Amino acid sequence: MLDSQRRHFQLPREIAYLDAAAITPRAVAVRTAANAALEIGDRPWAPRELDKKHLLSRLREQSAALIGARARDMAVAPAVSYAMATAAANIDLPRQGRLLLLTDDHPSSYLVWKALAEARDAIIDWAPRPADGDWTSALLEHIERPGAPAVGVAVVPPLHWTDGTVIDLPRIARALRAQGAALVVDAEQAAGVLPLDVAEIEPDFLAFPAYKWLLGPYGLAFLYASPKRQNGRPLEQHMNNRVEPALRLADTVGDYSFREGAERFDQGERDDIVALSMATGALQLLGSWDRSSLLERLRALTDQVAEGAAGLNLEVADRRFRAPHIIGLKPRSEIFESAVGSLASQNVFVSPRRGFIRVSPHAYNDPADVDRLIQCLRKLVS
Ligand SMILES: Cc1ncc(COP(=O)(O)O)c(C=O)c1O
Repeated sequence: MLDSQRRHFQLPREIAYLDAAAITPRAVAVRTAANAALEIGDRPWAPRELDKKHLLSRLREQSAALIGARARDMAVAPAVSYAMATAAANIDLPRQGRLLLLTDDHPSSYLVWKALAEARDAIIDWAPRPADGDWTSALLEHIERPGAPAVGVAVVPPLHWTDGTVIDLPRIARALRAQGAALVVDAEQAAGVLPLDVAEIEPDFLAFPAYKWLLGPYGLAFLYASPKRQNGRPLEQHMNNRVEPALRLADTVGDYSFREGAERFDQGERDDIVALSMATGALQLLGSWDRSSLLERLRALTDQVAEGAAGLNLEVADRRFRAPHIIGLKPRSEIFESAVGSLASQNVFVSPRRGFIRVSPHAYNDPADVDRLIQCLRKLVS
């Protein structure tokens, strides 16, 4: 099992920060990378050591490696909502077709699709949350239920963001492909920690941000586009992703066609060296930890949460259906409203999400953090 990586962060002992699913604290190495990049911005005339083109291509490689993709399949976006909007602009949702969404999914994930379905008069089909936490069986049954029209587009994450209940994406993807559906994956709560393989899932698009499990900066996200989607339309028009070098483009001369690969979907001002440096530093740190040892650590911590919750009248999903890194505690409603605020006042940080107290440790957490959480919860329920 990976040992605690707290030494890489500025986390005082008395802070039990268990909210990686909201945002992760900045690692010291990431701050150092940011400082070096900021100094370059202080003196734009001076020769620079950091080459933005090099940073960007390294980041495409690093982000691609998290999901089994090639660097050329990755585009840079400012947010997952932007990546979702790019996907929605490039997938044809047939009129009267079925759009499959998950109940209680994240608004950044579904809002653009909901708007598209309303504009096209398509059917929005909300898959209900299964009472037993078994999303995979529930979704398969829902997708294949007799009499339902074929799914045109499905937006499915690898796990539910509110309580960490997992979804077997390769299985769901096979069922969707059998109906000819396009699959879009919001991997915000998975990429960086859970193994994801685009060769197995075959999504049309898959998106994830830098600021959570990747330990990177806010305002930067990644969009995987499958090779068959790489001839699509970007949301914005700018000069950095064209065949012709930017400064040679002039009105009527020059080759305005896009460079090969997913790069055409890159956002404008894609090469902010501060954000890129922070992200490459973060992915370097994350990559220095063995993935399965990290997962072992996170699983041990969420199991410890589940054990502690069992004596406190807080429900959790069955272990078979829980991701290693996120766990939702379902309290009796009377304590819910005040619980999270009162935990924060005791330096225990978690998030309230759709009726769950969501607990999400990362590599910097240790059993003492979970002990603090359980002690504070015990006081609240007694
Ligand atoms: C599953 C999921 N998708 C999307 C988002 C937010 O996406 P963004 O702010 O990058 O658009 C969140 C934020 O918590 C999330 O949990």
